[in-house]
Amino acid sequence: MIRSVLKGCGSYLPEKVITNDDLAKFVDTSDEWISTRTGIRQRYMAAEGELTSDLALHAAEGALSDAGLTPADIDLVIVGTTTPDRTLPATAAILQDRLGMSHGAAFDVQAVCSGFIYGLAVADNFLKAGQHRNALVIGAETLTRILDWEDRNTSVLFGDGAGAVVLCAEESAGAKTDRGILSTYLRCDGRLNKLITSDGGVSETRSTGYIRMEGREVFRNAVTNIAEAIEVALSDADLSIADVDWFVPHQANIRILNATAKRLGIPEEKVVVTIAQHGNTSSASVPLAFDAAVKDGRIKKGDLVLFEAMGGGLTWGSALVRL
Ligand code: ACO
Repeated sequence: MIRSVLKGCGSYLPEKVITNDDLAKFVDTSDEWISTRTGIRQRYMAAEGELTSDLALHAAEGALSDAGLTPADIDLVIVGTTTPDRTLPATAAILQDRLGMSHGAAFDVQAVCSGFIYGLAVADNFLKAGQHRNALVIGAETLTRILDWEDRNTSVLFGDGAGAVVLCAEESAGAKTDRGILSTYLRCDGRLNKLITSDGGVSETRSTGYIRMEGREVFRNAVTNIAEAIEVALSDADLSIADVDWFVPHQANIRILNATAKRLGIPEEKVVVTIAQHGNTSSASVPLAFDAAVKDGRIKKGDLVLFEAMGGGLTWGSALVRL
């Protein structure tokens, strides 16, 4: 059988840091409220003229060099993003050009905060089907561009960044201990599409609109959906919580992470948490957290890693990977 083996990772954060105290100077909020309710202490903000494709390019170059590959080796580029450079074409096409490529396929996936997990599952299926050999999967966002700074319900939560992984199709005996993606699980409940949305869009208003969120309602759904995503990924691979070395969740709220860990009996020390530094970077959040834990030596080759996310749609999903 073919497995999609994760060969490299990379990430990028813009230079500018905005602390909670910085925000409190122009939004009616406080460091105390933001850190106790969300766990966020700071977030990064792209510079004027620094685009989603710029962030994605840095992350992609890092992942390629980590994998020991060049753009010539890649034949599939998938970018998960809610904040594309332009309405069209796909940011993946712009990125492909920046990488000096004109071969293979490139497209964006729009699943809001679940964008990276959706992209990973799509790439995994293309690789397993034999249609492509080596994929770059990226989550990249400039969410600060669609924040209404006067809306304290949303403006304190989100930040910019990008993370990337390289997946390579390899022959495998298919054992649980063999490298590669063991299972993926994707869900959406479109009835809840208004819980995280924008108050505008190309077709509706000929503009992008700003992020709007019914935070309390999203919170209510989050723990149940994330717990389901983790349980299904594990049962599909015939593994249990105890087998997982690292949980790399979407970084939306520390209280959601803690409540999920408590409900499923996940030891806190196995959960990678970057929310304090990064804030919620939507589709970039999982690959950013993953890259941070690989680079600081926590996550190692051979480890079993569970990625999960939930976001606008509502979408949610998971991926179980043996590194
Ligand atoms: N600073 C100070 N006070 C605030 C702020 C702020 N930034 N924001 C809200 N408040 C106030 C509210 O006005 C409210 O005041 P009131 O009681 O006088 O009406 C009070 O704080 C409590 O507000 P809640 O919304 O109930 O606060 P809650 O504890 O639910 O926290 C939060 C809000 C952080 C948004 C939380 O609900 C949450 O994290 N939800 C989930 C978000 C999530 O998971 N998103 C994931 C996907 S995101 C994506 O896909 C793009």
